[in-house]
Amino acid sequence: IGTLVYEDSANASKAVAQEIADLIKVKQSQKQPCILGLATGSSPKGLYAELVRLHKEEGLSFKNVISFNLDEYYPMEPDSVNSYVRFMKEQLFNHVDILPENYHIPDGTLSKENIASYCDQYEVKIEALGGIDLQVLGIGGNGHIGFNESGSLQNSRTRLVALDHITRVAASSDFSDLENTPRTAITLGVKKIMEAKRVILLAWGERKADIIRKSTEGEVTSRVPASYLQEHNNATFVLDKAAASKLT
Ligand code: F6R
Repeated sequence: IGTLVYEDSANASKAVAQEIADLIKVKQSQKQPCILGLATGSSPKGLYAELVRLHKEEGLSFKNVISFNLDEYYPMEPDSVNSYVRFMKEQLFNHVDILPENYHIPDGTLSKENIASYCDQYEVKIEALGGIDLQVLGIGGNGHIGFNESGSLQNSRTRLVALDHITRVAASSDFSDLENTPRTAITLGVKKIMEAKRVILLAWGERKADIIRKSTEGEVTSRVPASYLQEHNNATFVLDKAAASKLT
């Protein structure tokens, strides 16, 4: 596992955006789609802003990009203020030339009995495209990646999960209170994340310092799903100084 430490999240986000832009362009020159795995939350906001800037000011095209988001709350209406569909449109999709049929976000409106087959199909679509070329991740304070909470197995599939209490507390500021914060979500499983050819995990700020140390230097354990990335052959943790401050 690699760690790259930047002065601040702005510089780090620019570097990651450049890597993604370079990959998109290589794939364009090969007339291939570029398959991106995308995250929501606060951590990738600067990255998406920089990708939008590269599109508007430097002509970076997203016409060959096919994306799969990690997760969505369940239940969730796509036009709700807290939906990850809304987040992705506002942060990225509405501002670049990605084709609407080319982005995928787990559907928070399914009826319960349809979720399992929907999740299987989500993975089949990724596999049919040859897998994820580059997966962007954030990390929860408990070490979750996507919404693979503590206890998620390394071979876990895309599925409906119960959110940890700490995850719901962290999310509750977006909802009116804890009671109104979703209890479940659909998440890409750890297996598909581990199969991505390249993984970049973003973490900023002191509140992530402990879990970054555990994930990168601690034992590989289902208690800390991000620790599985120690076994990935091309994963990098991109950190600001504060998030890296507890690394030995
Ligand atoms: C979001 C996701 C989550 C977040 C994590 C960190 O799609 O998969 O794992 O990346 O909860 O969230 P922030 O970036 O808000 O600290």
